[in-house]
Amino acid sequence: MNELDFSTTIGNAWFPSPIFTASGCASSGRELAQFFPLHDIGGVVTKSIMSKARTGRPTPRMAETPSGMLNSIGLQGPGIDVFIANDIPYLIEQKARIIVSIAGETVEEYATLARKLRSVAGISALEVNISCPNVDNRGLVFACDPDASRRVIDGVRRAIGGEIPIIAKLSPDVTDIVAIAQGVVDAGADALALINTVLGMVINLDTMRPHLGGKTGGLSGPAIRPIAVRAVYQVHAALPKTPILGMGGISTGRDALEMIAAGASAVSIGTASFTNPTALVSIQSELRELLRLKGFESLQGAIGCAHRPVGDQQ
Ligand code: FUM
Repeated sequence: MNELDFSTTIGNAWFPSPIFTASGCASSGRELAQFFPLHDIGGVVTKSIMSKARTGRPTPRMAETPSGMLNSIGLQGPGIDVFIANDIPYLIEQKARIIVSIAGETVEEYATLARKLRSVAGISALEVNISCPNVDNRGLVFACDPDASRRVIDGVRRAIGGEIPIIAKLSPDVTDIVAIAQGVVDAGADALALINTVLGMVINLDTMRPHLGGKTGGLSGPAIRPIAVRAVYQVHAALPKTPILGMGGISTGRDALEMIAAGASAVSIGTASFTNPTALVSIQSELRELLRLKGFESLQGAIGCAHRPVGDQQ
């Protein structure tokens, strides 16, 4: 039997596996590295980093919900200079493939971050997070506005140059995600990350007030998987040549295959790692086995297969 080709590409970056961490759920991989070597998975997508150090939103910042989790972290982080000095060398030492996620409050902040990262060796791709729901001003969720999202990606494209692929991370909290996707691709994004969390809220019935310190939070976990699958399917149908990093509630190899069939070239695992820190490696081996069982010779053959006529699997 031929060996399954499990590799994938995002822009000009090649990865031996389509299984990645989800930004924000594994920081820069230090905690997960206690459980498996970081180079065993496709890549590590780091927590979105901003220009300056941030303490994030007030506590409580997490709430468990039916089949999901609400977070309101608020982009806590050490700032780009400390990140470049400490986290990139650590990931390189681990031989991890690195996707750096950036977030900004202005178009110029995104461009400044990209400029700083341009000369840093060892980065496979840049995730441009324009969809964090945990900002005080909803007007700063660039991905909810077609013009603002285009301007961010255009600025980052100019700042980073042509070498490093740009992955634009979009929000599901929009009427037409395809229009936003088309806009950022036209502005220079090589790929898309779909989806960020869904804006939600939990009321604490003891206090009769919002449970989270930041009041609203981002919903993740299996509860949002059908929303993510729908978004990936719609965007792949409109932009079949644009690679998609699919995410939202993947916790088994079957979930990963569903996202790939919808059109994802790779998947990110986030919330599942909180209850099972080895989830990434088990999902990776389950997916490999499922592809084999279904008769695929390569991962590529399965990408977007839900769009093909019945009977035309590969
Ligand atoms: O609050 C946070 O740090 C979450 C970021 C995100 O979902 O993009």
